[in-house]
Amino acid sequence: MQTIRFFTSGESHGKALTGIIEGIPSGFPISSEAIDRELRRRQGGYGRGGRMKIESDHAEILSGVRWGKTLGSPISILIENKDWKNWQEGMSVDAACDGSLKPVTRPRPGHADLAGVLKYNHSDIRNILERSSARETAMRVALGAIAKEILSEFDIRIGSYVIQIGKVQCSEFKVQSSEKDLLQTFEKAEKSPVRCPDEDASKRMVRLIDKAIKEGNSLGGIFEVFVTGLPVGLGSHVQWDRKLDGRIAQAVMSIQAMKGVEIGLGFGMAKKSGSEVMDEIIFSRKSVKGGTGKSAQLLTGGGFSRKTNNAGGLEGGISNGMPLIVRAAMKPIPTLRKPLMSVDIHTKKTFSAAYERSDVCAVPAAAVVAEAMTALVVADAFFEKFGGDSREEIERNYNAYLSYLITF
Ligand SMILES: Cc1cc2nc3c(=O)[nH]c(=O)nc-3n(C[C@H](O)[C@H](O)[C@H](O)COP(=O)(O)O)c2cc1C
Repeated sequence: MQTIRFFTSGESHGKALTGIIEGIPSGFPISSEAIDRELRRRQGGYGRGGRMKIESDHAEILSGVRWGKTLGSPISILIENKDWKNWQEGMSVDAACDGSLKPVTRPRPGHADLAGVLKYNHSDIRNILERSSARETAMRVALGAIAKEILSEFDIRIGSYVIQIGKVQCSEFKVQSSEKDLLQTFEKAEKSPVRCPDEDASKRMVRLIDKAIKEGNSLGGIFEVFVTGLPVGLGSHVQWDRKLDGRIAQAVMSIQAMKGVEIGLGFGMAKKSGSEVMDEIIFSRKSVKGGTGKSAQLLTGGGFSRKTNNAGGLEGGISNGMPLIVRAAMKPIPTLRKPLMSVDIHTKKTFSAAYERSDVCAVPAAAVVAEAMTALVVADAFFEKFGGDSREEIERNYNAYLSYLITF
């Protein structure tokens, strides 16, 4: 039932990243400025490494868009790697350059390095690390920005905020059910250097990152992604691969360094009783959930709502009209300035692992990547439900559905 398909390609120090997305209907406005804005958000965040100072990403749209609007044909994007100038021989596609760069032979624990060289029969770990690097996520963000831009036309908004870095946690807040509160939390987070809405926790997170930098260590953390304005009925309970919770979990888990994904209260549900976690159903013809714009007025759940949002907007793999809440845990960055022990793949002797210029904490950036992946899955489910080849066709289907919900 997949309507959107996308691929990324490119090595971290290669000439460029490329991406192709197919299944985007015609007539939607797309601009490279909007994509670049998202790319800048990914590049920010306290604790990033030297690489982010070199790269200032720009998305060049190569196809699928004419005069600012999608054509319905595949959209391809190119993001140049500014660092390429220093790697032209070392990362050349030309056989004549073979041997121009010393091979990497000491695999870093926590990376694809060792499993990758064994699987692909390489003698240089660079042949693995160049692609397993999270540089690839720049293209996911670019493609996700297209999905986001289209969803925003239907008043569906996607954001994120960081709730934990290392042991420093945001002040306790429950799974949010108000769209207004979520958007306010997001605004606050956007002003924080670590994208955390709690000012005090934000300062403590920065201090913790400083300590990790000094010690040559690294940090992980937890963030939340939310979607507001989502209509009831995206995804389906009828088949395992159509369940929206499963599709989102796979997309977010596929981001480098993600080790856990929860929906709504997630693992927190396990230690509570049923009466504490199920979201009681209420009905009000007038109840509008504080959203913005036309579709929120029409009420995404058609008059039905919930007192709480522990389910995180999904029941039975179907969106239930409440905000979608996804939480993910990121492990600490595996490349360490004070490297851990490893074994040279050629000599089999024990050495400390290789060090490549690296982030110390990338949780704020990872949250932006997860927004993009969530946007792509939600847009896919949206087009599946309101299918059509043009913006007008989709709008007709969407509006007819909302009218039906109101009279249900
Ligand atoms: C936005 C982002 C930036 C990252 N930056 C780095 C980095 O600078 N150095 C590093 O070693 N790992 C970094 N990682 C994590 C690794 O790419 C990841 O841990 C590694 O590829 C192994 O994959 P796995 O952790 O999913 O098993 C980053 C991840 C993300 C999402």
